[in-house]
Amino acid sequence: MLTDAQLLEAAERFGTPLYVYDASVIDRQVARVQEAFAGARVFYAMKANPNLTLLSRLRAQGIGFEVVSLGEFERARRVGAGGDEILVNGPAKTEQEYALGSELGATFIVDRASELDLLPSGAKLLVRVNPGLEVHTHSHLATGEAAAKFGVRLEETVAVIERARALGLSVRGLHLHIGSAITEPGDFGLAFARVAELAAQTGPLEVLDCGGGWGLDADLHGIAQVAREAASAFGAQLWVEPGRFLVAQAGTLLTRVVGQKSTARDFLLLDAGMSELMRPMLYGARHPVRALWEGEARSVDLAGPACESGDLLGRDLALPEYRPGALLAIEEAGAYGASMSSNYLTRPRPAEALFEAGEWRLVRRRQRLEELWEHELPED
Ligand SMILES: Cc1ncc(COP(=O)(O)O)c(C=O)c1O
Repeated sequence: MLTDAQLLEAAERFGTPLYVYDASVIDRQVARVQEAFAGARVFYAMKANPNLTLLSRLRAQGIGFEVVSLGEFERARRVGAGGDEILVNGPAKTEQEYALGSELGATFIVDRASELDLLPSGAKLLVRVNPGLEVHTHSHLATGEAAAKFGVRLEETVAVIERARALGLSVRGLHLHIGSAITEPGDFGLAFARVAELAAQTGPLEVLDCGGGWGLDADLHGIAQVAREAASAFGAQLWVEPGRFLVAQAGTLLTRVVGQKSTARDFLLLDAGMSELMRPMLYGARHPVRALWEGEARSVDLAGPACESGDLLGRDLALPEYRPGALLAIEEAGAYGASMSSNYLTRPRPAEALFEAGEWRLVRRRQRLEELWEHELPED
């Protein structure tokens, strides 16, 4: 864990709001995944955090990438990833993504039957199956229930495989991803087992990709075991696609206290809010918060600068008495933090810094204000 002194140094050097990453935590998480899922291929779901420095680090450890946009595709290419290291996913891929993916020999995750007609002949693919079950997570994070927009229904899967083959496409196997931040072991077991039942109809397949979605406290070995059992039903190699698990705990959002206020509740006012960290507002995420100053504790909510009542980065937290300019570390923010940050309120996206081998290094500079309107066409 980064020490208070290291965090204070980063805030001094690079300013706030600031995302900081601890390289050793990324390496630790990679090692945990590679140990628990030994023999499986790991593809990092880049949406969690697409910073090029992190991508290079992951690729150097043998990890491929799941990409869902042309931009993510280009990021994978910039860190040197070739076609067999790239999975092209998404429910609404574009013509350019199909063209680039097949030119490079990437593997597509087919999300609906009609996509088969859009793929060039010979394209390699996995069919994404929707196992049709409720999982224990926020409704915005569940992707494997019957009403979700993702995947092909279990009962239609075999027909999709047959049609793909008839079209001259190369069906490598099946894919599923039931949602994010899931810690309930039974959810994975049930979903994987449902898909494994298809083996009786499909026969052997090369790949079963069991997706990601592992909550930070999830029992990795338990998930690996049920995933392996499902893969072996197809005689397939297991692939996985973690995002959050690899990078969330490595990241911290540093923010300064700029004021305080009391209404019916007590607030600390921060220089970061929903533009920098969407997760609390988007799906009620609760991040651990560390105060880098001391004082008598009182219960407060953490309010960002947006004129939105939901712009709260924490609620009911016991934090020291208000001190202007004091620093707060919003932890476990390495996944879906910087990557979901926005220019809402014409706020520049924050800088990002990596702590590695005892030193801080800027890995994304803070956006400049002028960059925020440079694409607009001024009126004459
Ligand atoms: C298809 C797919 N795979 C993997 C992931 C990664 O999920 P997580 O970051 O929860 O591991 C996602 C996240 O949305 C996804 O949609």
